[in-house]
Amino acid sequence: MRVSGVLRLLVPISALVITWVFLHSAGNIHIQTIRLPRWLAPATTKELHAIKSKCGNRKPCTDNSFAFKISSGAANVVGPSICFEDKVLMSPVKNNVGRGLNIVLVNGTTGAMLRDSFFDMYSGDPSLLERFLKEVPEGTLVLVASYDDPGTKMNEQLKKLFSDLGSSSAKQLGFRDSWVFLGARGLKNKSPFEQFLKNNPEENKYDGWPELLELEGCVPRKVF
Ligand SMILES: *[C@@H]1O[C@H](CO)[C@@H](O)[C@H](O)[C@H]1NC(C)=O
Repeated sequence: MRVSGVLRLLVPISALVITWVFLHSAGNIHIQTIRLPRWLAPATTKELHAIKSKCGNRKPCTDNSFAFKISSGAANVVGPSICFEDKVLMSPVKNNVGRGLNIVLVNGTTGAMLRDSFFDMYSGDPSLLERFLKEVPEGTLVLVASYDDPGTKMNEQLKKLFSDLGSSSAKQLGFRDSWVFLGARGLKNKSPFEQFLKNNPEENKYDGWPELLELEGCVPRKVF
């Protein structure tokens, strides 16, 4: 009891002493030195805008490359989206996506969009996609996002056409796989921009579909 009584007295006394010591020495502190460091201070809207990278990507791109982000669809529920140089070119909000393969063509030199299109790969006519791919001009970037099922109508001819654009995974493409890819007409090597996930009931994130895929990066102008 007596010990706790002493403690109860000691606490306010030491608080007083500490406050007094602090106030006393505070006289010597220049107030300016307590200013918040720049990175802690709230950024202005302008600064926030400068920090955000194109397409919301993790890293900004240099001037001699284009920023892109491609997201496949999630199961058969959420549609895919394709962003290029901070412009969303295909998305559910734009209402220009569909089940199957969603494809944007971009001029590889200027970055100007040439075409966007989707191809039903479950019940559509694969010859439409064959013609579309054969007509891709030299020096064109090809951005591809799968949605629901990119594989049922996939045939050898289409696999070859995608492989020629730099794809490594197109030849395995099957029923309800997830696939995102950026290639180009005239690439000499395989594209480094590709992700592929096989539909595998043992490992699927959703019941009948694998996880959605996201691919982002900086593609150099004129990769040819
Ligand atoms: C891409 O842009 C360049 C420069 O304007 C032009 O010369 C070329 O024809 C364009 N290519 C296509 C396929 O539109």
